Amino acid sequence: MGENGFWLPEASTTLAGEVDALFWFVFWVSTVIFAAVVLAKLYFVVKYRRRSEKDVTTPVHESKALEAIWIVVPTILVLIVFTWGFDLFVQLNSAPPDSYQITVRGKQWTWEYEYAEGVLTAGDLYVPVGRPVKLNMSSADVLHSFFVPEFRIKQDVLPNRYTSVWFKAENVGEHTIYCTEYCGTAHSGMLGKVVVVSEEDFAAWIQEQNQDLPPTELGQQVYKTQCAVCHAIDGSRKIGPPLNVFYGTERVFSDGSSTTADDSYIRNSILNPSSQVVEGYAPAMPPFSALSAQQVDGLVAYIKSLE
Ligand code: CUA
Repeated sequence: MGENGFWLPEASTTLAGEVDALFWFVFWVSTVIFAAVVLAKLYFVVKYRRRSEKDVTTPVHESKALEAIWIVVPTILVLIVFTWGFDLFVQLNSAPPDSYQITVRGKQWTWEYEYAEGVLTAGDLYVPVGRPVKLNMSSADVLHSFFVPEFRIKQDVLPNRYTSVWFKAENVGEHTIYCTEYCGTAHSGMLGKVVVVSEEDFAAWIQEQNQDLPPTELGQQVYKTQCAVCHAIDGSRKIGPPLNVFYGTERVFSDGSSTTADDSYIRNSILNPSSQVVEGYAPAMPPFSALSAQQVDGLVAYIKSLE
């Protein structure tokens, strides 16, 4: 995690500092005007208080100069905020043409990433430092929102439509990704990390992802990024049933039917979860049909290896 200040999270991209500068400008202008109005009010309350029963208000005439000031000064301030904000808005929405592009899919309740090199991961997003990165985002189900406070970027992620954000991380480090649009039971657990690494480490990481892992290791990786929000492996109950205690046992489903938990049962539960909902649990799991055949095989091997 980066160093977060008392007032704002660390500013970790090339544009984050500029977003903060505009924020502080609006904040301090508002503070000064607020203080001036309150102080003037207190002064007038005391100065023009009623001193006796016979006290009469002196006739009040408008001051053209004063009126001009309180029309012109706020107008200028508002125009400064508008042009400054508009310029920043355009910059935040125009990814440089040489950006490294990553496809992001929001999904109950994880983030999936597809890299140009053919790498498909979920949970944590690896990006190279000092290089503009553009995320092309969509949702597999409901509305989500991609939010990295330390990058000052937040963008809704929608089904059937693409949205995008871009950033250029200035330092190597890790930053939390939040889902900031309520998207169901495990919305608050829909977290990830942006892991900013050097160009060399990034190239090495891509290569590592492309290597064939043994099935149980691949399965463990998929479990950690895709399943761990809802399924424990220590026998405890989360949104879904634990994954470590059922292999080979009799599973009873909410429709009264049952089966012995074998490889095919695990596979079916991943790809078509609503067909066999374990008794006592809600049918909350979406189908994980975007997993590759290897990833499904890996998960089956991993779940079988659990005790
Ligand atoms: Cu996804 Cu909240």
